[in-house]
Amino acid sequence: MDKNIVVAIDGYSSCGKSTLAKALAKKLHFIYVDSGAMYRAVTLYFLRNETSLKDHDVIIDALEHIDLNFHSRDYQTHILLNGEEVSDEIRQMPVSENVSAIAAIKEVRMQMVKKQQKMGKSKNIVMDGRDIGTTVFPNAQIKFFMTADPKIRAERRYNELSIKGEKVSLEEIFENIAHRDFQDTTREESPLIRADDAIILDNTNLTEQQQLEFALEKIKPFLAL
Ligand code: CDP
Ligand code: CDP
Repeated sequence: MDKNIVVAIDGYSSCGKSTLAKALAKKLHFIYVDSGAMYRAVTLYFLRNETSLKDHDVIIDALEHIDLNFHSRDYQTHILLNGEEVSDEIRQMPVSENVSAIAAIKEVRMQMVKKQQKMGKSKNIVMDGRDIGTTVFPNAQIKFFMTADPKIRAERRYNELSIKGEKVSLEEIFENIAHRDFQDTTREESPLIRADDAIILDNTNLTEQQQLEFALEKIKPFLAL
């Protein structure tokens, strides 16, 4: 392989980033990396260990005790926190309510970005998150910036969690999404912004198949290189 291809997908909460990223990875036989899962797993560790967010030495020490690994099965990515499968637990509300504050901490971001860059070093990957096209892979060949109407996003997430049997109201989800979007776009450390060269993809009225076709059209020229 001459040069590996990186597809960077950034955007607001619950707007379909991971759905698109997984579908692209499956279609193109690329590796999918869910960077949000990494911040969520760190959050779970901090919550379980009642890590103080005020003391930077405590944070650095806690980060040293965190070992994160992905393993893929049937194009489903599973995340292991110190060897324990935590893929479901990291999607639950306690983590969702705390993750943006923890993802705003400089030390946490530095470590996650280093890990993410290592993962995309020599492989074709699709990575989704908030700062992939701006900070993690500013030279990615293809960048998408995804967005969708906040009400539609909350409804989609509500349906997803309801199917899994989590008792949470649509209002709670809407509030959480709005709050995280605010924190993610206004934080000091690599806030969520569209990279100048990112293609905007508003999927408010698109099906998962339609967004996949849109993205594949944009990626096609790079595959022919
Ligand atoms: O799936 P959802 O859009 O709800 O969020 P996620 O991708 O799982 O990310 C959870 C949180 O992690 C986000 O709200 C951000 O605060 C943080 N995050 C980040 O700061 N940078 C990334 N590259 C990915 C996620
Ligand atoms: O990764 P992110 O938080 O941006 O969103 P996601 O987990 O990919 O998508 C959130 C929900 O929206 C999932 O249940 C998807 O199946 C659904 N979705 C949809 O209904 N239509 C789309 N065009 C994209 C996603």
